[in-house]
Amino acid sequence: MDSDRLAPWLFAVGLTVLVLAELFFLVKVSTPLFEFLVPARGLVLTLSQDTTDCVKYKNNSVYKIKQTFEDFSNGKFYNPWATQPIIIEPTRKKMTELSENTALSQRAVYADMFGFKNTLSNFNHNEIAAHRSRLFSLILSVRGKGHLRQVSPYLHKRMEIFVENELSPRPAMTSDSIKIGLADTCKLVNSRLMAVAFFGEKLASEPIFAEAIYQHPLQTVTCMSLFQLAPSFMYRFISAIVTRNGQAMKQVEERVCPIIEKGVDSWDHPSQVEHTILYNMIEETKDNRGYWTPAAVCQAIMGLWLAASHQPWVNMYIFIYQLCTHPEWQDIIRDEFRTNGSGLDFDSLENLPLLDSFMRESSRFHCLDKLNIRRKAMGDYTFSDGSTFAPKGSTVCVSNYDVSHDPGNYPNPDIFDGFRFVRGRSNDRTTGYADVSEKNLMWGYGSLACPGRVHASFVIKFVLCSLLLRYDMRLEREDMRSHWTYESFSMPYGSTNVMLQPRETSSQA
Ligand code: HEM
Repeated sequence: MDSDRLAPWLFAVGLTVLVLAELFFLVKVSTPLFEFLVPARGLVLTLSQDTTDCVKYKNNSVYKIKQTFEDFSNGKFYNPWATQPIIIEPTRKKMTELSENTALSQRAVYADMFGFKNTLSNFNHNEIAAHRSRLFSLILSVRGKGHLRQVSPYLHKRMEIFVENELSPRPAMTSDSIKIGLADTCKLVNSRLMAVAFFGEKLASEPIFAEAIYQHPLQTVTCMSLFQLAPSFMYRFISAIVTRNGQAMKQVEERVCPIIEKGVDSWDHPSQVEHTILYNMIEETKDNRGYWTPAAVCQAIMGLWLAASHQPWVNMYIFIYQLCTHPEWQDIIRDEFRTNGSGLDFDSLENLPLLDSFMRESSRFHCLDKLNIRRKAMGDYTFSDGSTFAPKGSTVCVSNYDVSHDPGNYPNPDIFDGFRFVRGRSNDRTTGYADVSEKNLMWGYGSLACPGRVHASFVIKFVLCSLLLRYDMRLEREDMRSHWTYESFSMPYGSTNVMLQPRETSSQA
């Protein structure tokens, strides 16, 4: 073999050795996995007793191996070994049963997917029940609108700071176009604004805290992807590497737990904080601190924060992408905003039917998650009409894609029609972006449908209008792509850039 052909092989071997060495030393400091690889106590099985000493497995290790095999049969792995989910017909009756029957667990699906036990300080999804859903629903759905009305001036302020300091890189002249990485910008602006609604302006603007809450959901999603490929006994090890031993979660706990412990009266904050999710969680749980310990409240808030972090930015991304590929909609929305005399407050943004129609049609058209109302069968389960049997461990769901592309629901479903929901070109009774119906499943269905949709809708509308009032938007190059798909999910491309042209200098200003 000549040296030119040998070099890449040597490089590959060197790299492998390096990675293995790194792993070895990481494993050495990561107790759980090291215990598995270097068994010490509780000898159960001796494989051989010659040459390099014997290889021993302790009880724990055998359990882990057994557990790994069980993972295959109980549907833990989604890819590449996954059994396919069972998809039911989208009738109201069956979807309600799917959504609400307690033998079909929503939380078990998400706990498997995200490996919460590892990313949320030993979160136990088996222990929690309907009362948590009710609490979230009370704080988010029932009181959400009222709180968001009060919080919107602070979002305004935070958006100004974001545009001035974080919309990078800044151009030399204020009239120059700004090039932004679309995905990164959506992630950051969503985190910054949503944090005001969750934690209040003051806490949300502390740099270490802001960075921790920005990183935590990103790391959780990375763990989620890796967990789908790895056996579960590796989860702690993987999450230790990805989350740097849970650093972000610890930083959040260090800041939030003392506030919960001492109560809201001792929280040094401006008045707006009464309308935050943290404040309301503290108040609603204070009479039951034995169960709702500060760590448990913090964990619950970070679970909510994950829900509030990932989906909204992905949706925001797709809307901005659509605004770039359908630039006439930039003017349509600006005109509607001006004609209605709107401001960036909650009620004004709720009263923009064209914007709602555009957003709803964009999410229908792109269908960012093709499956919905995912539930895991906790035991063998037969639907009440006898039509579907779901064996223990299987995932049951509905095809959101089929529902949103059914010509009976949406005529000419493969054509993007931004006016669809204001010009009667849909056979659904609902028209708003945040509406739930049997023909709009992006938020789920039934009593467990997303309770945070009002928050998501408001923050996304707020960002879209704030940007549209300041800038004309276009893709950096026409061939920049929108998203790639993984299983049923659509994920934005990190490389798609958008040019923001300040409005004062643009031809359409
Ligand atoms: C565009 C953004 C969002 C989308 C598309 C979305 C979608 C969903 C979906 C599909 C579910 C599962 C419903 C089911 O399985 O039946 C869900 C659940 C949930 N979402 Fe959202 N969501 C978004 C934003 C948010 C936000 C901003 C929050 C919090 C402020 C939130 C909080 C939750 C919670 C707590 C649950 C679990 C419900 C429960 O435990 O009862 N979501 N969401």
